[in-house]
Amino acid sequence: MGAWAATLRGALMELTGHARKNRAHWDREADAYQAQHGEQLARAPLAWGVWSIPERDLRVLGDVNGKDVLEFGCGGAQWSIALAKLGARCVGLDNSERQLNYAREAMRAAGIEFPLVHASAEATPLPDASFDIVFCDHGAMSFTDPERSVPEAARLLRPGGLFAFNAETPLHFIAFDEVNDRISTQLQTSYFESRVTRCRRRRQFFAAVRRLGLSFP
Ligand SMILES: C[S@@+](CC[C@H](N)C(=O)[O-])C[C@H]1O[C@@H](n2cnc3c(N)ncnc32)[C@H](O)[C@@H]1O
Repeated sequence: MGAWAATLRGALMELTGHARKNRAHWDREADAYQAQHGEQLARAPLAWGVWSIPERDLRVLGDVNGKDVLEFGCGGAQWSIALAKLGARCVGLDNSERQLNYAREAMRAAGIEFPLVHASAEATPLPDASFDIVFCDHGAMSFTDPERSVPEAARLLRPGGLFAFNAETPLHFIAFDEVNDRISTQLQTSYFESRVTRCRRRRQFFAAVRRLGLSFP
């Protein structure tokens, strides 16, 4: 797949309203996010969630050697770089160009190359059935409408493929106190209309999965 072709097609795909807001948010926040988390993510990249639980203990992705792997909201691509070192054929996708700049720098520093795609996980410019694994560690699945991103992941996966992710609870977003930059014990915004994300109702996610006939391992 031509990386430039995918980037150009990605630029032409229409964004949902929340993906547009979210792009502006992450383009603004990328420097602070990478300053705060970049070094730790690079030091211990194959680890899930805020508690950094190692992939070697959870074995969510399994053996990635020789597999086509798409990271859905890759940020600085620390995960994908580490997976590429294990023999995966990675593609990193993110909605924020600023985050992808960090991914480019990190790939250059690691001497690793794979395509990066600037697009929303809700509508990607990538071909059907082109991946064995679609995954993210608090990436696109924390910010997208599952009615769009779950079918998109299913479209991109080959039969029998694996869709694996962890996502932030919407409770974080609705209790997040922007002024003091911390999670509070009070509601700060509506469950249904958040500033940077369309809060995903858990029910919606499971409904989308069921409708597509996907199975849980
Ligand atoms: C908290 S960061 C996590 C990035 C990376 N997974 C990591 O562990 O550092 C969330 C990422 O999701 C990306 N993102 C948000 N909405 C997205 C969407 N609709 N499609 C693709 N990526 C998205 C953001 O741009 C950001 O880079």
